[in-house]
Amino acid sequence: MTRVAGKVALVTGGASGIGLSAATLLAEEGAAVVVADYNLQGAEEVAADLRKQGKQAKAIFLDASESESIQQAVAFTVATYGKLNVLFNNVGLTNLQKDLDVVAMDLAEWDRLMNVNVKSVLLGARYAIPYMKQVGGGSIINTASMSAFAGDSIRSAYGTSKAAVVQLTKYIATQYGKDLIRCNAIAPGLILTPAAKANMSPSLLATFEKYNALPYHGEAADVGHAVVYLASDESKFMTGQTLQIEGGHYIGNPTSPDFLAMQQ
Ligand SMILES: NC(=O)c1ccc[n+]([C@@H]2O[C@H](COP(=O)([O-])OP(=O)(O)OC[C@H]3O[C@@H](n4cnc5c(N)ncnc54)[C@H](O)[C@@H]3O)[C@@H](O)[C@H]2O)c1
Repeated sequence: MTRVAGKVALVTGGASGIGLSAATLLAEEGAAVVVADYNLQGAEEVAADLRKQGKQAKAIFLDASESESIQQAVAFTVATYGKLNVLFNNVGLTNLQKDLDVVAMDLAEWDRLMNVNVKSVLLGARYAIPYMKQVGGGSIINTASMSAFAGDSIRSAYGTSKAAVVQLTKYIATQYGKDLIRCNAIAPGLILTPAAKANMSPSLLATFEKYNALPYHGEAADVGHAVVYLASDESKFMTGQTLQIEGGHYIGNPTSPDFLAMQQ
């Protein structure tokens, strides 16, 4: 359990779902972790739980829509543990009620999602990079989504914002690779986090599963393990990439699930 031993990691949105899983797995693999979240109580519970297990963890309030708050979370991490090696830029918002098709969507929601989903990634990197340079490099991991790669009937802002995260990942990787700072993204398909479960009916979940190549849904740890890999030196020759963790939902001809069913 030492794949990221000695590293210091800041995880945004670490109180729940994918961020919680990544924070837990990073701590289990030896990193000191700062859990940053809008839900401070939740972040404190995660950190306290990890400390009880003998891991190093602290919590801090973060509002990822505020530049100053992101700067403070980065500075807190360095003040607490002396350095920053890993930044998991994980906060991202979606809104099924207001983020609709391009004619019907709420334009204020477009701005809000772009601000939180894209600008917070830029700002996290902007504030972390000088500290990473001080310690001879680091790893930035951004949470994109499979929505970056396909059109859909709604969620125009979400998908576009996540496509921007994929592209921004390449820019950061290109600009700071010579400083030994790597930047990669993860693109989850549907992952059954508490938030996803709360928003989806059983029939919607069944529809998603039908179009997976694998016969089950993704769990937060399926993404958390990938974050540990990208944070560790095991991925030292990998930068600018987006790891797709999606159960084969997007790999086949769209009609293939229906043809497979016809053959049975
Ligand atoms: N769950 C999925 O199916 C799925 C699929 C693709 C991509 N993603 C992406 O994964 C990331 C995490 O999603 P999740 O499903 O784990 O969500 P989640 O709702 O379980 O967790 C998100 C965490 O972020 C925190 N948060 C929200 N807004 C914040 C803000 N402005 N500032 C600070 N913290 C804030 C919440 O309090 C929560 O703890 C997001 O970027 C999301 O877009 C999720």
